[in-house]
Amino acid sequence: MPQISLSTLQSLKLKGEKITMLTCYDATFARAASESGVEILLVGDSLGMVLQGHDSTLPVTNADMAYHVASVKRGNREALILADLPFMACATLEQSFANSAQLMQAGAHMVKIEGAAWLADTVRLLAERGVPVCVHLGLTPQTVNVLGGYKVQGRLEAQAQQLRADAISLEQAGAAMILLECVPSELAEQITKRAKVPVIGIGAGNAADGQVLVLHDMLGLSLSGHVPRFVKNFMAGQPDIHSALRAYVSAVKDHSFPAPEHGFNA
Ligand code: KIV
Repeated sequence: MPQISLSTLQSLKLKGEKITMLTCYDATFARAASESGVEILLVGDSLGMVLQGHDSTLPVTNADMAYHVASVKRGNREALILADLPFMACATLEQSFANSAQLMQAGAHMVKIEGAAWLADTVRLLAERGVPVCVHLGLTPQTVNVLGGYKVQGRLEAQAQQLRADAISLEQAGAAMILLECVPSELAEQITKRAKVPVIGIGAGNAADGQVLVLHDMLGLSLSGHVPRFVKNFMAGQPDIHSALRAYVSAVKDHSFPAPEHGFNA
């Protein structure tokens, strides 16, 4: 299989073929997931919770991210590697440039930043400098202390309108992908239909162009014991991890995951 690029993902969106993404933090899982057909490996700052045992993603540093990106790169076959800029890594434009450069030089093909329309300049300036950007909207875990918890976003019409406007202005600024976390399924559908770039959902219903889950969640591993509503355990009934990864890819591709019970209403 050739290397998966942004053009590959764009053509999957145009064809209506669902895009598969999973978080990934090391070489062995990068090999297994990319060989199982996962198209995007997200080196997410969720590693702060699932690998490091913190109760939020805030303690994760850019150096932590670069270490895991380099590990994923060594195991990856053809997947596109997307890396999170962690908490405060784009507090200023200069920090955004330096931290993105560190992740791209470690092996990322694209970076993801959490926020809203105020990120438009950052997105535009990174894209102009050769860094494709995915914008993470909706429930943005790095702002959990402002949001008052890990809550569904965009349920009120004013919030939904704001999210639709944020998605449009960030796409116009040059965002090459949008990730929507924990928003009502109908809102995710509206944003996906309007967007020209791929939209990936987690807890955002079935209409997005693709899906992502945290690797440990979909393998049935949980440190906290709390399993979010949008998670499905793909290890259940499977003989091994490779089969679980392939089951996830098939379920996303044939639209059977996420089912209505994994989504949220307004
Ligand atoms: O860090 C992460 O794993 C993420 C996913 C929850 C989308 O951003």
